[in-house]
Amino acid sequence: MSDTRELIQRLPKCELHIHIEGSLEPELMFALAKRNHVELPYPSVEAVRRAYHFGNLQDFLDIYYRGMSVLIAERDFYDLAFAYLQRAHVDNVRHVEMFFDPQGHTTRGIAFGTVVDGLSRAIADAKRQFGVEASLIMCFLRHLDETDAQKTLDSALAFRDKIVGVGLDSSERGHPPSKFAHVFARARAAGLFVTAHAGEEGPPSYVWEALDILGVGRVDHGNRSLEDEALVGRLAREKIALTVCPLSNLRLRVIDDLTRHPLRRMLDKGLAVTVNSDDPAYFGGYVNENYRAVTDALRLTRDEIIAIVRNGFEASLMPVAAKAGAIAELDRIAAATE
Ligand code: ADE
Ligand code: ZN
Repeated sequence: MSDTRELIQRLPKCELHIHIEGSLEPELMFALAKRNHVELPYPSVEAVRRAYHFGNLQDFLDIYYRGMSVLIAERDFYDLAFAYLQRAHVDNVRHVEMFFDPQGHTTRGIAFGTVVDGLSRAIADAKRQFGVEASLIMCFLRHLDETDAQKTLDSALAFRDKIVGVGLDSSERGHPPSKFAHVFARARAAGLFVTAHAGEEGPPSYVWEALDILGVGRVDHGNRSLEDEALVGRLAREKIALTVCPLSNLRLRVIDDLTRHPLRRMLDKGLAVTVNSDDPAYFGGYVNENYRAVTDALRLTRDEIIAIVRNGFEASLMPVAAKAGAIAELDRIAAATE
């Protein structure tokens, strides 16, 4: 196994499913709480970590939204994103498409521009210092209504050059993609890429809706697609990538054991699977740890690991020439580590 560990470390990678607010480590949470005079419901960093036991997605979301209350000023968003990008660089991540949840902040009175400016400044500095490329995908919170999402899109369009796409996250059950048909149509008309969480806890019909009604180019998670053969056929034929997050699925009890993670069946059915960290500060691992855990549990071969990494680049929004260059480099490094 140690040679696959080395392989995972050495391969250049993409991360296509990371909620930047989910990279808020307890140490930074405490530092920002102090700086901003925010009271946290935990006495210590250790107590925060101990509270991270989740029975399902909603248990996690309740804690996640409370955690982000320490993010107030532009420099808080900068510190958050810079810390993540520095950590991603350690894992040899070269390209990141970063989700953020503006409504998690605007509903607390933080200006949209404060969030985007802080994140964008960190992205520019990380590119200069580490060579990591990153861009922003704004997610709508699906437990809120579409009117709220429309207002959020209005705010985003004033920062159009700083945002590459829109996504859909938060509580999945009871909030089907069709609830957001109009706002996604507007986002597409504005030239934004569109993606959505679907099939994490929700049924395969939510994945169909994400494809047919929202017009997504990727599906975030997509685990429950496997319950529907016709859907699997469609995803495979159209090479719609799934941004899979193994440790998240384990910690949110979407699966009960990593050895039964659906990624093995997804690969066997020819789906374009990618591996990502989702909310690494909450789920116990950044992207390489997700690769390592799923490699050990599913006994992934070296070729399978390389194929998953390649899927990430293929499914990314990198410009054509940069993508070809990154894949050529991936192939070179893969050959050199044989
Ligand atoms: N927001 C942050 N992480 C999420 C997840 N795994 N599912 C849905 N919404 C989220
Ligand atoms: Zn997610």
